[in-house]
Amino acid sequence: MIERVNIMALPFDLKNAIENELDGLKSSELVSVSKMITDKYGSDSACGNKKLSRAIETKVYAAVRMPATFGAVSSCLEYITDIMPDFSPRTMLDIGAGTGAGTWAAYQMFNLEQITCLEREDEMRVLGSHLMECDSELSKCTEWIKKDVILDNFDKKADFVLSSYMLNEIPENVLLKVVDKLVEATNDTLLIVEPGTVKGYSILMTVREYLINKGLNIIAPCPHIEKCRLADDDWCHFSCRVARSKIHKVIKEADVPYEDEKFMYLAISKTDSNKKPDNLNRIVRHPFIAKGQITLDICSADGNKKTLYRKKDGLIYKKVKKLKWGDCFTED
Ligand SMILES: C[S@@+](CC[C@H](N)C(=O)[O-])C[C@H]1O[C@@H](n2cnc3c(N)ncnc32)[C@H](O)[C@@H]1O
Repeated sequence: MIERVNIMALPFDLKNAIENELDGLKSSELVSVSKMITDKYGSDSACGNKKLSRAIETKVYAAVRMPATFGAVSSCLEYITDIMPDFSPRTMLDIGAGTGAGTWAAYQMFNLEQITCLEREDEMRVLGSHLMECDSELSKCTEWIKKDVILDNFDKKADFVLSSYMLNEIPENVLLKVVDKLVEATNDTLLIVEPGTVKGYSILMTVREYLINKGLNIIAPCPHIEKCRLADDDWCHFSCRVARSKIHKVIKEADVPYEDEKFMYLAISKTDSNKKPDNLNRIVRHPFIAKGQITLDICSADGNKKTLYRKKDGLIYKKVKKLKWGDCFTED
């Protein structure tokens, strides 16, 4: 099978700024802190208590996770603009911003004039804000504010609201209360990104059902508003490939110069004009490509199906040939 995959990378200055933070730290220490972070995040029982509050933890977090979360959010923004090509937010709220990877992704894509990063942990805010100093324009238009999304009100609204890799840290009994705050803060579009795991998918399916019942317009990834039709032991997710720097390879004790980040997301638009076409198809696995034919796993309003496109199908074959896992298309 041939996989069509682009390799994404952090902006050069950000990558250097992160590497500068690690200068002078021993590789063995970086590896052991990274393992500690993985353990903390790998434990479901730690929900609500996955705090990274030591400077070294946030530095290692930035080095290890920012490329992947930047890649995942950038991919989601591409999927959103496929559906809403005119979406051009001026203001953004990044909620549970961590060290700012999602903001960096949105800033590359849109002409943002005013960004607010809300984050509970002091060390995350300090490092996120410091890393942004390598881009004076971004730094000038970004404000970092200490907020706990469970306890505090946001006091701000924005055209684009992002919550990336945060909801899995929110205890179940207050999840929907936090979702209400995200929706309330959104003038136009809300993007929620979570890990592409069974748990990330399950959180997003709970949120999806809640938002659909509230009458909100899910613009991506789902082409329909029925219950997800995947089998009980399956979960919808997408993937992006991100470049691994030398230091990333050292910290993760990895051989290959890239990693595949699996993620799941939900995008909601409050603007009526952005309704997606009824006959939209979403590609939910890597296309299976053979000589002169392509098989796509598709989610659509008609159901989930495998569809075979042959070279002799002409224009539609040419169209689907360019598509990847996660892309959407119509057959017209
Ligand atoms: C895994 S990190 C993701 C950071 C960033 N959004 C990204 O995608 O790179 C989760 C972040 O959510 C923050 N967070 C978790 N619970 C929070 C809360 N109750 N209020 C504010 N921030 C919170 C954590 O401190 C952490 O920085």
